[in-house]
Amino acid sequence: MSSMECKRPKKLHRHGRCGSASCPHMVQAPTVISMVGLPARGKTYMSKKLTRYLNWIGIRTKAFNVGEYRRAATKLKCHDFFRSDNSEAENIRTKCALMAIDDACKFLQSGGEVAVIDATNTTRERRKLLCDLICDKYGFRLFYVESICDDINIIEANILEVKVCSPDYLGMDKNEAVEDFMQRIEHYRKNYQSLDYNHDKDLSFIQIFNQGERFLVNKLAGHLQSRVVYYLMNIHVLPRTIYLTRHGESMMNLQGRIGGDSDLSPRGMEYAKELAKFVANEKIPNLKVWTSELHRTIQTAQHIEAPKAHWKALNEIDAGICEGFTYEEIAEKYPEEFAKRDQDKYHYRYPTGESYQDLVARLEPVIMELERQENVMVVCHQAVARCLLAYFQDKSSDDLPYLKVPLHTVIKLTPVAYGCRVEFESLNIPAVNTHREKPAKNPGKKSPDITDDQDDVDKKMMMKHRAMSVN
Ligand code: SIN
Repeated sequence: MSSMECKRPKKLHRHGRCGSASCPHMVQAPTVISMVGLPARGKTYMSKKLTRYLNWIGIRTKAFNVGEYRRAATKLKCHDFFRSDNSEAENIRTKCALMAIDDACKFLQSGGEVAVIDATNTTRERRKLLCDLICDKYGFRLFYVESICDDINIIEANILEVKVCSPDYLGMDKNEAVEDFMQRIEHYRKNYQSLDYNHDKDLSFIQIFNQGERFLVNKLAGHLQSRVVYYLMNIHVLPRTIYLTRHGESMMNLQGRIGGDSDLSPRGMEYAKELAKFVANEKIPNLKVWTSELHRTIQTAQHIEAPKAHWKALNEIDAGICEGFTYEEIAEKYPEEFAKRDQDKYHYRYPTGESYQDLVARLEPVIMELERQENVMVVCHQAVARCLLAYFQDKSSDDLPYLKVPLHTVIKLTPVAYGCRVEFESLNIPAVNTHREKPAKNPGKKSPDITDDQDDVDKKMMMKHRAMSVN
């Protein structure tokens, strides 16, 4: 197979995105990303995070963790199992690695685009095996990500945060678990052969030193590998929280109209004040506030005492010819468009406007910059907040357009171990409900109590409030 053509069947991926040439993020050749490094060097953290990111940008990716194959194959888990002179264990470990490689290749043969092999792969012999199978047998590309770390503080923090809670140490005393894990590392260290230019100059790889202090990149092959390198060079592991909120209720929310650039409603103004109080109470060090370039987000952030930046990339989804309409008006004027959106909301593009898929592409630089930053509050819009939340919560493109992001609520996103803690905090200021559940049956059929999608303002509340504001 030439590197430019993909002869695999065009099919919809788990994340609902297709691998055809018309998709914006086509992967030129199925690729295995293989981790390299001693235990407790952040390999699983990187594998999971990279997998989540690649899926979010539309590249079908799956991680294969060799430790999980080993746990399924044997109950043995004491450090002795990892000694290089334990030949019985060595056989089991090789079998587990082969099973993971095999599954990864099957995944790529059946429409997957990137498989991440999360394992130590610390010897040249093991890496040769990977190369023989992945490149020579299957013809896939292979890219190594080696994590090298000699900072004892980073290693200890990693062991305490994730290793002692691993299924290997279930129910074991914490100190005993740490001691056992340190010995496991020493067994691996005895045979560890780092990637190096003299032996490996023809391989494609990145070496990451002390979790991002320094990088070395060799022989990048293609767009995907460049993107992976760019991403890995931007992420960090410092503790921080990202605060996500929509603008306060707007005048157009009250009318059930989508898009536009209206001001906040009186309740929206109230939310802006409460939001500033909330931020002051949280006492967030070095907070930065990002808004879109639209009035309603700038007004929402106006009382917060922190440096502010306004991103055009954070503007709400462009509803094209439907901007400023209510959903009833769209259903009446463009019934086919209205129905198409219900059928596939993620891919549906408003005529002359955008789709959720377009929005994810527009938001990628925002995600990259968020990864580089520490504490940030993002004040944005419903569709934008859904895309950002989907990245942090690893949601599929099917679920993304239906994520619940209520008005007048702050969402706290805090990285923990291998994931992200998500907390919703309502500031208790009434607002119209703009959420509409995914239509189960009769897609596109106009539902009498639904108006909009940006949105899908609960008509009853809207009418009630309209009456209140008119009187
Ligand atoms: C493990 O069994 O936990 C890791 C296997 C490996 O990649 O060495």
